[in-house]
Amino acid sequence: MTMSIKVGVIGYGYWGPNLLRNIANDPNCTVVALAERRRDGRERAARSFPGLRTCEDASEVIAMADVDAVVIATPVATHFPLARAALLAGKHVLVEKPICSTVAEGEELVALAARLGLTLMVDHTFLFTGAVKTITQTVRSGRLGKVCYFDSMRVNLGLFQTDVNCLWDLAPHDLSIIDHLMDDQIVGIDVTGYCHLNAGLPDMVYMTLHYASDLVAHFNLSWMSPMKVRRFVIGGKKQMLIWDDLDQDQKIRIYDSGIEVRSEDQRATIVPDYRVGDIYSPRVPRGEALAGVISHFVAVIRGQETSIMDGACGLKVVKVLEEAQKLLDRNLAEIATRRAQAPR
Ligand SMILES: NC(=O)c1ccc[n+]([C@@H]2O[C@H](COP(=O)([O-])OP(=O)(O)OC[C@H]3O[C@@H](n4cnc5c(N)ncnc54)[C@H](O)[C@@H]3O)[C@@H](O)[C@H]2O)c1
Repeated sequence: MTMSIKVGVIGYGYWGPNLLRNIANDPNCTVVALAERRRDGRERAARSFPGLRTCEDASEVIAMADVDAVVIATPVATHFPLARAALLAGKHVLVEKPICSTVAEGEELVALAARLGLTLMVDHTFLFTGAVKTITQTVRSGRLGKVCYFDSMRVNLGLFQTDVNCLWDLAPHDLSIIDHLMDDQIVGIDVTGYCHLNAGLPDMVYMTLHYASDLVAHFNLSWMSPMKVRRFVIGGKKQMLIWDDLDQDQKIRIYDSGIEVRSEDQRATIVPDYRVGDIYSPRVPRGEALAGVISHFVAVIRGQETSIMDGACGLKVVKVLEEAQKLLDRNLAEIATRRAQAPR
């Protein structure tokens, strides 16, 4: 009989309860302990999961001999030290997105997990949503034709975080999805941002990624929008897809629309043909993505699946974020200088 994987969770704030619930519901693992600094969090968890061992500090869960795997749902700045300590204690690790705060930290975690033969995974939750599974099938089937662009709008009145800006909070989702869909390399980044509420902590970011093929990905990320929008457009040469994650009935629409490009000799004189065809909305499987993440984590630990969100995937996302952050800082400083010099 296969043994149940014993899991310790660290962090029971906003996201931790979702992880804990899904671990508790998974038939192949058991949640044995929770570390949470706040007493009210520990009490809430103890009420929901009678018998759960709770403690105040992460180090206690990491030191528990009967814990096989640790799930980390704490603020981003703590991911690296906690994940490192857990790996060094011989535990498999699932850490929330983004995996850590710097490329150097990510490289160290990936190397450590490989050296110790442990599973290191990052919760790129969206890869297990019905929408992204449907999009992956659609893109891989070739139905859209060659993908030319991604255009993502991820805006709302944000849950302001103290240790990350809206780039680090919101972009990991789209970056992990695009990395999952495309085998392409980023060759250039343009990024601008605005700090309306906290100096140095952008709450609006516009980012464009240029890829080695003629693919481009644009991101509108904001914590300052009065309306929540989660819209992701994929422009293919044959068809285009719009994913509206807030639309419960038609999350995905595939438009048989495009522009027919004419042969070279005709182009100068004739305007392009616009092709406006049918709109198709595929059925998107329902179900909680986190249940898929947890069951994947267990299967990867058991050697039954290869991870689609391993440490290396997490590191790729952090590489883009770190490079974008450098450019963003430079851009913010330059604009601040010009503002200071502008006549009033
Ligand atoms: N995958 C997703 O869709 C998704 C959604 C939301 C948040 N997240 C991620 O989850 C992580 C946590 O976000 P959140 O919004 O839940 O934050 P939060 O601040 O609401 O909760 C974090 C909790 O961790 C506790 N904590 C911190 N350090 C600790 C330690 N050393 N020992 C014990 N407890 C400790 C805090 O007391 C707090 O309750 C972030 O990385 C965030 O990016 C992911």
